[in-house]
Amino acid sequence: MTMKDHVLIFDTTLRDGEQALPASLSVGQKIRIARQLAQLKVDVIEAGFPISSPGDFVSVETIAKEIKGPIICGLARAVEKDILACAAATKPAPRPRIHTFLGTSTIHREKKLRRTQEECLAMVAAAVKLARSKCPDVQFSAEDAGRTERDFLCKVVETAIKHGASTVNIPDTVGYTTPEIFAAIIDDLMNRVPNVDQAVIAVHCHNDLGLATSNSITAVKHGARQVECTINGIGERAGNAALEEVVMILNVRRDHFGVTCGIDTTEIMRASKLVREVCSMPVQPNKAVVGSNAFAHSSGIHQDGVLKARSTYEIMTPQSIGLLENKMNLTSRSGSHMVRNRLQSLGYAEKDLDLETFYPKFKALADKKGTVYDDDLVALMEAPTLEDIGDTYKLEYLNVTGGMGVIPTATVRIACEGKVKQEAASGDGVVDATTKAIDRVVGFPIELKDYHLDAISEGREAQGRVKIVAVASEGTFTGVGTSTDIVEASAKAYMDVVNKIARMRKYAPKLGGKRARAPL
Ligand code: KIV
Ligand code: ZN
Repeated sequence: MTMKDHVLIFDTTLRDGEQALPASLSVGQKIRIARQLAQLKVDVIEAGFPISSPGDFVSVETIAKEIKGPIICGLARAVEKDILACAAATKPAPRPRIHTFLGTSTIHREKKLRRTQEECLAMVAAAVKLARSKCPDVQFSAEDAGRTERDFLCKVVETAIKHGASTVNIPDTVGYTTPEIFAAIIDDLMNRVPNVDQAVIAVHCHNDLGLATSNSITAVKHGARQVECTINGIGERAGNAALEEVVMILNVRRDHFGVTCGIDTTEIMRASKLVREVCSMPVQPNKAVVGSNAFAHSSGIHQDGVLKARSTYEIMTPQSIGLLENKMNLTSRSGSHMVRNRLQSLGYAEKDLDLETFYPKFKALADKKGTVYDDDLVALMEAPTLEDIGDTYKLEYLNVTGGMGVIPTATVRIACEGKVKQEAASGDGVVDATTKAIDRVVGFPIELKDYHLDAISEGREAQGRVKIVAVASEGTFTGVGTSTDIVEASAKAYMDVVNKIARMRKYAPKLGGKRARAPL
């Protein structure tokens, strides 16, 4: 590999990305992101647009002073005051760059700048010359190159290089091109601009039609050697090409592109999370590379395949972008192989696993709850269901009514040694009504001493675990109940106590008539 086969990564999260945020970033916030960009080993950090505000000037200057490693670049329109401000702000950097730009398409020339082609060429020449007199590294961008007449674009690129630009950027400012059209633009520049070999051709693609990444990597295939991008693809309107996508495409498909880039990909996830947090810009779960589902497998067939060989459904490892592990979503579509694997990874020994009994319980919970989290699994293993416990009393039916202006009432039906009894009661709330109805069925007094409810898994349908402490004439008992419904969890916890008392009553005579004390 030579430098010809190396693609420079120019990060503009702090300039183009920041433009799209509802509020500008503070210097401190920009420094945090810039530090992570340096960890990521981007080649260039575009730190801001110094003339745009005093705050932006200070941000660029501070980054230029403090961040070591990447080239520190500032943006400037092709006018003197912008270039001078940019030169001053970037000067403290060991390797500063001035990035000056001018709209070159007919629309920009006629509607925005009101300049002829000749006037624009003169502005390009003057801006690049001035920038070169202030800084050894100058980049010129032909804004809206994607809609610029081909002959004129060739002249603009030639002029910029002739006056000292070492990088010339071809932005698709409004995300209008397609991969084939963009390839033809880059081919034309490579074939028709006589001094093109004296500069790096860069691309900067916007995502208005969802083609920013495709257009960028197509340009690389056709000779572009700098790609401008942002973390998570943030930027004007629909954003810019996402750094993580461009970089992982070049890495994963090196066989096709035959180029390298210097990014430490294991820092990608950290950068993505930092930008989400600092910019208050979440990414969609199915976002390529960094979305929360990007390394999650849901279907039973996929999970089984990944357990057998990761490469069946993973084209890159989670570790390659800095994630610890992939994610297997346990749902009703997950097979028993997957459930066994997860239980083992949670520490259960093979001898403790009775999948024939456990798997149907898992499926029942998954049908009710959607995703089953690790703590749901543990709860299911550790807190046996009511049916398993109910050796004397079995709760068969529970119906409660409550709400504003309604007296809370509960009706329960409980089976006990071949008989079924139903009772109803009202109470201070639906849980109180339920325990009173159960008391009426079992016929022995129980005093509730403590009641504790925890959410033991994530999501709207989280499982609740109720722990209670109750006192009866036999002693003090604890009960636990788990369900996605808190009244049902409370009833299960109460029935847990009822059955412990019943067991105690049954076995007390065998214990020499002594009253047994239930363990707390
Ligand atoms: O989209 C664009 O054209 C830009 C330039 C300033 C490079 O952001
Ligand atoms: Zn842009």
